[in-house]
Amino acid sequence: MRSQVGIVGAGPAGLMLSALLAEAGIDSVIVENRSREEIERTIRAGVLEQGTVDLLVRHGFGARALAEGARHDGIELRFGGRGHRIDFAGLVGRSVWLYPQHEVLKDLIAGRLAAGADIRFGASDVTLRDVTSDRPVIAFTDADGTPTELRCDVVAGCDGSAGICRHAIPDAERTDHFRAYPFGWFGILVEAPRSAPELVYTHSERGFALISTRTPDVQRMYFQCDPEEDPDRWSDDRIWAELQARVAGDGFRLVEGPIFQRGVVPMRSYVCHPMHHGRLFLAGDAAHVVPPTGAKGLNLAVADVVVLARALEAYFRSGSTDLLDGYGATAARRVWRAQHFSWWMTSMLHTSPDGSGYDLRRQLAELDLVTSSTAGATFLAEAYTGWPLA
Ligand code: FAD
Ligand code: DHB
Repeated sequence: MRSQVGIVGAGPAGLMLSALLAEAGIDSVIVENRSREEIERTIRAGVLEQGTVDLLVRHGFGARALAEGARHDGIELRFGGRGHRIDFAGLVGRSVWLYPQHEVLKDLIAGRLAAGADIRFGASDVTLRDVTSDRPVIAFTDADGTPTELRCDVVAGCDGSAGICRHAIPDAERTDHFRAYPFGWFGILVEAPRSAPELVYTHSERGFALISTRTPDVQRMYFQCDPEEDPDRWSDDRIWAELQARVAGDGFRLVEGPIFQRGVVPMRSYVCHPMHHGRLFLAGDAAHVVPPTGAKGLNLAVADVVVLARALEAYFRSGSTDLLDGYGATAARRVWRAQHFSWWMTSMLHTSPDGSGYDLRRQLAELDLVTSSTAGATFLAEAYTGWPLA
């Protein structure tokens, strides 16, 4: 089997890349090790930058996001027991959209399959060969058990943080920039009406909490916890007591309801350098991971493939490798900005297990500055709503 581009992974990066390539007349095959059903029911991110929504709309995948998602023109930063609004629309004229990642994936998968895309769900034993030659190969076992080889000109490694593609860059040529955090996020889905009109990012002496939303009847909430926490050890009452204690202050209370999904996600920062090796190009979580506080993960994955698609288009049109050679450096500028923003939001809002009274007061001073200075609030608003796509 042959295609111009072989894509490993049908997440936001791989699916969006295949769509952008198809529009440029470049054929691709996606090799994915999970089933379509599993992908479409995995709960992950919820916030789309305005540029991500614009991109989905421009390429015909945005109708449901616009109809069923919700535009948010600001967020609340809550600290010292009071809320302080950051007015995105007023400060930078941009907004974000609440629309869950698995719904974005449903839209991308349906659209790509309707356009005749070749997506091999349920592949196993996926390996890469000859990525430094001009005929790299993705070898895998198809869902029906057939050993298959996909020969291509270029491989796009879009296989997420636990994928295999990154490891095709030899250890001696790869630097793993990594940072772990001493906490995770305990996330729940709740059947209840909204507690607040916008997302509430809360700093408290008991730790961080985030009040987000999915639909008028389903809410998403998170609170900082031990990264090793077993979510099943928590009764519903204990979860509510902890969340209410973190957001308490000026009379604000969360509307409680049945908790129907729970889990703990780790927090880490990671960047792989370089993002490119021979004919292999990494994009999205395969190349970098951010802690979720800045809501950047999915958006960054999409931003990478916009840069990569443009470089591949130039390559297949004219044979020029200039943009492909510069892919890593171009993408890295946004990647490191997002790394900084996600780290900054995380360190400003979470309490560290070995933190002191000094650290707490420094965080409160920073939050006070960000919410009372137009310059500070504008910095946050610009970053959260997303820098312009390249
Ligand atoms: P992925 O979405 O990870 O897609 C990679 C795909 O590759 C997957 O479908 C996977 O099955 C496939 N794959 C993996 N290995 C192989 C292989 N060997 N062969 C073939 N296919 C393979 N971000 C936020 O902004 N906010 C959040 O709240 C948030 N929550 C998250 C919760 C969890 C549990 C995780 C894991 C991530 C979360 N993220 C969040 C991050 C966000 O979801 C990711 O940044 C985003 O999914 C990145 O997209 P991607 O396409 O690069 O990778
Ligand atoms: C959600 C996730 C995030 O990481 C974030 O910063 C905001 C909202 C969410 O799942 O709704």
